[in-house]
Amino acid sequence: MKIITATDYQSMSRKAAQIIASQLVLKENSVLGLATGSTPIGIYEQLAAWTKQGDLCFRNAVSVNLDEYCGLPADHPESYRSFMEKNLFSSIDLNPANAHLPNGNAADPNEEARRYDGLVQELGGVDLQLLGLGHNGHIGFNEPGEAFVMDTHVIELSDKTRQANARFFGGDIAAVPSKAITMGIRTIMNANKILLVVSGEEKMDILRRALEGPVTPHVPASILQLHKDLTVVCHPGYGREQ
Ligand code: GLP
Repeated sequence: MKIITATDYQSMSRKAAQIIASQLVLKENSVLGLATGSTPIGIYEQLAAWTKQGDLCFRNAVSVNLDEYCGLPADHPESYRSFMEKNLFSSIDLNPANAHLPNGNAADPNEEARRYDGLVQELGGVDLQLLGLGHNGHIGFNEPGEAFVMDTHVIELSDKTRQANARFFGGDIAAVPSKAITMGIRTIMNANKILLVVSGEEKMDILRRALEGPVTPHVPASILQLHKDLTVVCHPGYGREQ
């Protein structure tokens, strides 16, 4: 595990963007696992800027997002598809046909979850998976629980997660969907490399528990301790020596 402590949000975003860019330079047809949430927005701005300058090219890349809400139309401003269009896809040269998210409106969400795992396998797996960290230690939408759920699945969102995400829905927790489709723990852990980005003093305690506490489904991100190639870029950090 490598932990990089950044001086501020901008520096965190730039360092993480450099890691993603180097992945693309080394393998232009990389399968990139992408994430939503407020944390990666600065990374996406940086990647978009480098693409605009001609320093980065996504033309041969493929993306697979971690998760999607159930029951929001794809063009709803808070669907993760809309988030990705707005914050990244509209500003880079990724082929839209190669930008994948689970379909949160599939008639059978469980079948859609199975299809998504099949898709990731068909693509040859994820080369680099970007992850944020939920306030309760979730990754993707893998919520704390009694067991790790291995494959992509439909999840009932916890009150804490819906509360945390209510800010995107005008502060109205009732407007936050109660279910989502998320990559499972095995799907995430199968990625060749994982890049975890965490920003904010209020997340440093859960980050410390994830990286140094027991590996437990009560802190889903703690499983990342077992990954062979994990890089954490965080700000402000929690005092661990690098
Ligand atoms: C959502 C996403 C996660 C993300 C988390 C943290 O729940 N499903 O992938 O990591 O939010 O978001 P933020 O970066 O806004 O704190």
